[in-house]
Amino acid sequence: MAAFQLNGRQVSPTSADDTPLLWVIRDEIGLKGSKFGCGIGACGACTVHVNGKAVRSCITPLKSVAGAEVTTIEGLDPGGNHPLQKAWIEAQTPQCGYCQSGQIMQAAALLKAKPHPTDADIDAAMNGNLCRCMAYVRIKKAIKLAAGEGAKA
Ligand code: FES
Ligand code: FES
Repeated sequence: MAAFQLNGRQVSPTSADDTPLLWVIRDEIGLKGSKFGCGIGACGACTVHVNGKAVRSCITPLKSVAGAEVTTIEGLDPGGNHPLQKAWIEAQTPQCGYCQSGQIMQAAALLKAKPHPTDADIDAAMNGNLCRCMAYVRIKKAIKLAAGEGAKA
């Protein structure tokens, strides 16, 4: 059994050790904010944080997060007041919304590592998070807003 911290509370899932973390989070624990897109680590819809780093939970086996701190979109800021969440609303970023929790979690890891990212930093960090609605311009705008650089995207 791989116990870990999920959004600040200890959880001890009973899923098999090789179960993808995304399945554990969504199906066993019941948090539905992290999405299934491709299942092969190629779209970013399932992005969560493990010990502060953005990871693709669809290809992360449960056993690999034993003892780790895992954060999903539900735990990023329980009040929904993370600067990225506020910027996402201000920039009216989502279209269908499906990719957006993964986008925000990826961006949150970026801003934690680089509070004032350059355009190139943003492009490099967000490159693997796909959006079938093509909301990329608004995603970048929101990241810049959250970083306090205004809407220059
Ligand atoms: S569902 Fe995990 S990267 Fe696409
Ligand atoms: S907003 Fe629809 S997939 Fe990104």
